Amino acid sequence: MRIEVLGSSAGGGLPQFNCNCSNCKAYREGKSTVKRRTQSSITLSEDGINWILFNASPDILEQINNSSFLHPQKLRENTIKAIVFMDAQIDHTTGLLGLREGCPHEVYCTKEVNEELNTSFPLFKMLESWNGGGVKYNEILPNASKFLIPVMPNHEFYAHALISNAPPYSEYRDKPRVGDNIGITIVNTKTNKRLFYLPGLGVLQDHIIKEMEIADVLLLEGTLWTNDEMIKGKFSKKLGTDMGHVPLNGENGLIKVLNKLKKPRKILIHINNTNPILDESTKEYEELISHGIEISYDGMRIDI
Ligand code: MLT
Ligand code: MN
Ligand code: ZN
Repeated sequence: MRIEVLGSSAGGGLPQFNCNCSNCKAYREGKSTVKRRTQSSITLSEDGINWILFNASPDILEQINNSSFLHPQKLRENTIKAIVFMDAQIDHTTGLLGLREGCPHEVYCTKEVNEELNTSFPLFKMLESWNGGGVKYNEILPNASKFLIPVMPNHEFYAHALISNAPPYSEYRDKPRVGDNIGITIVNTKTNKRLFYLPGLGVLQDHIIKEMEIADVLLLEGTLWTNDEMIKGKFSKKLGTDMGHVPLNGENGLIKVLNKLKKPRKILIHINNTNPILDESTKEYEELISHGIEISYDGMRIDI
C-alpha cells in the first residue's frame, strides 16, 4: 500500500490566513524550521495509478497540483476512484466542491456523516447538479466490521467509532453520536500490514488503544501540544478536549499512551498551526522526536 500525505495541518492550514501566531509569523518571515502545511488529507493506492482519497480538504486543488501521481494521463481522467470521509468537518469535506467536475464520485462515510452532508452542510445535495448525479453513497458501519473498496482489491477496511466532536456547524456539536467521527484500519491482505488512520481523536478509549497496538503505521491526531494551548494563546476559549482533540503533552496526553506501543511507526497528522512542534527549533519538537514520534508533512510518502 502506498500512502501519500496530501495535507498535514489541522483546520486553517499553516499559515492560517488570519493568524500571526509564532509559527504562522515565522513561516511568513521565511524561517527554515517551519513548513507550509495544507489541511489534513491522505490518499492511498495499491497500483500507484488509482487512488482512494481520505477526506477532501479545502486545499485539495493545490494538493493535487503538487502531486503528479494524481494527474490525469488521458484527455479527461479522475484518478481518485473513491472518497472516504472520517467526519463531516469543514476541513475534511469542503474540497469536494473543488472536485465537482469529476462527479459522480463514489463516497464512503457513516450514515451520520451522510446526513450532515445532505442537510446542515449539504455538499452531497448540491453536487447532484453536476455531471448527472453528485455522489454515490456507500455506507460505512462504525462497528469494526469489514468493508471493501473495489479499487484496492487486496485490502480490507475496518471503521472504528471514535469519541471526538461533531462539526461546529452541527446540531450535534458537543453531543456527538456514534458515527460522527471514525478511525479506519486498512489491512493489506497479502502482507497483513496495517495502517490505522485517525485524524481526530478526543478520548483514548481502550479499544482504540488496542487497535493502535497492532498497527504497523499509525497516522494520528496531533492537533495540540497542550490542552489549554488555544486559551493561553488567546486564540479561543476552548480546551482541545472540548473540540474533540486529545493533547499530545501532559498526564493524560497522547505521548504517554504512544510510548507504551512497541510495534507501530507513530506519525502525527492534523496538526494545528499553533502547535509548537511545528517549529523544529523548539524544545517541544525536540521532546516529541525524543519519543520516536514523527510529524507528517505535505508530500510525505509511506509504503507498507
Ligand atoms: C476540528 O478539527 O476541530 C475542526 O476541523 C475545526 C474546524 O472547523 O476548523
Ligand atoms: Mn479539523
Ligand atoms: Zn497560526
